[in-house]
Amino acid sequence: MNTSSLVSIADLSKEQILRLLKQARYFEENPNQRILEGRVVATLFFEPSTRTRLSFETAVNRLGGRVIGFSDASTTSSSKGETLKDTIIMVSNYVDLIIMRHYLEGAARYATEVTATPIINAGDGANQHPSQTMLDLYSIYKTQGRLDNLTITLVGDLKYGRTVHSLLMAMRHFNPTFRFVACDELRMPKEYKEFCDKNGIKYTEHTDFSEDVINSSDIIYMTRVQRERFTDIMEYERVKDLYNLHNSMLDNSRENLRILHPLPRVNEINPDVDDNPKAYYFQQAKNGLYARQALICNALGIDVPLYEKPFNE
Ligand code: CP
Repeated sequence: MNTSSLVSIADLSKEQILRLLKQARYFEENPNQRILEGRVVATLFFEPSTRTRLSFETAVNRLGGRVIGFSDASTTSSSKGETLKDTIIMVSNYVDLIIMRHYLEGAARYATEVTATPIINAGDGANQHPSQTMLDLYSIYKTQGRLDNLTITLVGDLKYGRTVHSLLMAMRHFNPTFRFVACDELRMPKEYKEFCDKNGIKYTEHTDFSEDVINSSDIIYMTRVQRERFTDIMEYERVKDLYNLHNSMLDNSRENLRILHPLPRVNEINPDVDDNPKAYYFQQAKNGLYARQALICNALGIDVPLYEKPFNE
């Protein structure tokens, strides 16, 4: 496997994560640079995306590089039966970095085994979404002034939600307390609870999104129920609207509470939350640009200055 790739958030040490956050902050202050001049980056999206693809592409453009790629695999030769292996080898002939999203778990890891070109995993099935985690960590750091000792409540589709899986793994460095709020069908999978046990991460499980849980959280991380991962659409219909956050539910929440969501949302956050100063999901998505600028430079071995001051909002 090539070593500059980012496949799983578990590939990054605490020091690497903190360094990337400081670089992201540097890019927030200095988003327009020419440091990717002469570099070409491919964005291969075998699954739909708005934020991840566009923020990665904006990141490259703002750094002076060029982007090729596709957002609809049905227009590519994979629709004629070309294998993922052949596609990756071919695209590697043209570019310096491949950013890929795929519906199969493990697809990004597999890609690193067939090419020496660095790969950034932009989401592989229900498995991992490490670049989302970097912007989530950046958002948490900015809004809380720290990453350590926070109470984080994950709500919704904890079974198929790759963003919560990656976030949980990254937080192992920062002594979090997690609450997992989900119905029985969408509970946090056993392997991630075992990961918590192995890494000393505290967690409790809840089916009720109660006042108690809300009022003692520093971060509430809402998630969409992932319709595309269900084999039984009736089961999706039964669980899709079980957890909805409304503005009135935040009346007695902590001052420092911030509501995160990887987006897109469907019904899980009522629009009446949007004007609450504790709603942070749109800024969170904006932070993706800076976090991804840092990740791209890291994958290409380009040095980036570190922002060394504290960076509260
Ligand atoms: N958060 C996220 O991955 O959004 P997109 O699916 O729009 O890229």
